Amino acid sequence: MSVIAIFNQKGGVGKTTTTLNLTAALARMGKRPIAIDLDPQAHLTLTFGVQDVNTDTSIGAFFRDDTPLLNLVRDLATGARVIPAHLDLSKVEALHSKSAAAARKLKLGLDASLALEGVPILIDCCPTFGVLTLNALLAANRVLIPVSADFLSMQSVNKLDMALKALEGPLQRKIEKRIVLTRFDSRRKFSYDIYDQLQERYGRELCATRVAENVALAASPTLAQDVFTYAPSSPGARDYAKLTLELIESGFFA
Ligand SMILES: Nc1ncnc2c1ncn2[C@@H]1O[C@H](COP(=O)(O)OP(=O)(O)OP(=O)(O)O)[C@@H](O)[C@H]1O
Ligand SMILES: [Mg+2]
Repeated sequence: MSVIAIFNQKGGVGKTTTTLNLTAALARMGKRPIAIDLDPQAHLTLTFGVQDVNTDTSIGAFFRDDTPLLNLVRDLATGARVIPAHLDLSKVEALHSKSAAAARKLKLGLDASLALEGVPILIDCCPTFGVLTLNALLAANRVLIPVSADFLSMQSVNKLDMALKALEGPLQRKIEKRIVLTRFDSRRKFSYDIYDQLQERYGRELCATRVAENVALAASPTLAQDVFTYAPSSPGARDYAKLTLELIESGFFA
């Protein structure tokens, strides 16, 4: 089972957009992926258009009442599956931030309830390095780091890289990671400079596919649609289809 945490502690770099569209692309291939919204902002839940989400039908119920994860999975018409979030998820951060056991809960829950599914699981993280994100990183065997093509975003990936290396010791395993450059503007030389710097530092861990700044990617969530449904011929759809294939071919979703 591949469990992928999509994380960067910097906000607005494209974590949710990437989770939404990778999940949609995998679903179209019949791979029955499950996306988990682990952000109290619940943006992924909104962009998937999941209805009737409350405290008992969202991921908070797993953390609060041990509701099995499988019971929280929603099947969508597109073939994607999602475990939605609700604002009450922020209570997990407040109540359990000092407990080491609380950080392992999602891993245990996945092993107990979703491991048999044998499908890719994608976790959309929030932009903070708190107990929810630790749950995602400890449950994941892979981390995908979206980096938007700007200076601060690149700084944050270097800090995150150090944090992941620090986690590898206690975990006694390597955390496989990939970095994907998002919001790439081909008219700006600066975008290419950032790509080159990332490549120099991270080599093959940097995805060859760059996701361009594209209006369809920004607009599709307003209709609760992924980019393949909203604008199948758009550059955004092309980029996320290409990224999905690259990640499949490199064994990232295996
Ligand atoms: N390639 C892109 N082209 C155009 N707009 C984009 C692109 N990627 C993301 N966006 C837009 O940028 C905004 C931030 O993206 P997104 O919500 O995916 O980031 P995030 O990292 O999940 O943010 P947060 O840290 O708040 O969870 C959204 O309005 C989204 O639609
Ligand atoms: Mg997000």
